[in-house]
Amino acid sequence: MTNKQPIGFIDSGVGGLTVVKEAIKQLPNENIIYLGDTARCPYGPRPAKQVIEYTWEMTRFLLRKNIKMLVIACNTATAVALDEIKKQLVIPVVGVILPGTRAAVKSTKNLQIGVIGTAGTVKSGSYKQAIITKVPEAAVTSLACPKFVPIVESNQFQSSVAKKIVAETLLPLKNKKIDTLILGCTHYPLLRPIIQNVMGQNVKLIDSGAETIGEVSMLLDYFDIANTDTLSKADYSFYTTGSTVMFDGIAKEWLAALPVYSKHIELGGSQSCDTMVEKHITYDQ
Ligand code: DGL
Repeated sequence: MTNKQPIGFIDSGVGGLTVVKEAIKQLPNENIIYLGDTARCPYGPRPAKQVIEYTWEMTRFLLRKNIKMLVIACNTATAVALDEIKKQLVIPVVGVILPGTRAAVKSTKNLQIGVIGTAGTVKSGSYKQAIITKVPEAAVTSLACPKFVPIVESNQFQSSVAKKIVAETLLPLKNKKIDTLILGCTHYPLLRPIIQNVMGQNVKLIDSGAETIGEVSMLLDYFDIANTDTLSKADYSFYTTGSTVMFDGIAKEWLAALPVYSKHIELGGSQSCDTMVEKHITYDQ
């Protein structure tokens, strides 16, 4: 294994780019390969078994690209597939839930923590369980926000529609006295200014994906696999199962200044984003 091998990132769509953005900033020497399963996004409403199957398909694709580490840059996939994939791969595999949990536990003062994510992530109870395991007295309020991902995937994350939907969806969290809110979906940081505005400046937002890169950095050092070549320019490759035009549009805007020319690939059968939008918002405390 050489240290120049890329780090692989997978997500159900464009959301994992929020994690890549942080990787480019914190780990500028690292070569990166990203795969977004845009054609089958969102994963949130899908049964766990299917999400595990899709996550394996993405993982196998990146293993063929000789990655040295895998980052599951998707909360929904992390919630249901991380343990299994971690057990079976010989390379380090990192998910986004535990890093977000650690940051939230560190940030909260009143132990009232909110978690927003997809229906799949909220249903899995992964964040709640991870938080309570660390701090049993913490009160966790979880809210699924199924309308957020389609807004991001359709590049409308700065629109007035986005503002209206975010305000309506987060209403149940407003009277919960939470001082820390975990953005438990890698798509949500694109809506961050709107979410912050709705929740108020006193609520600290935790970007699980960004926190994950701290863990990636630590593991690169721990396993002595960081790319120490500071002279060559890092190489970034992007793959999508959906439209490259849509993907590149969002990626260019989000990864400011980075030219993105994604390649289209096929993985198994596809079902479009539009037909999978959830109708219900679930809520638990
Ligand atoms: N990026 C996914 C996550 O972090 C959300 C999108 C989806 O539902 O597929 O959970």
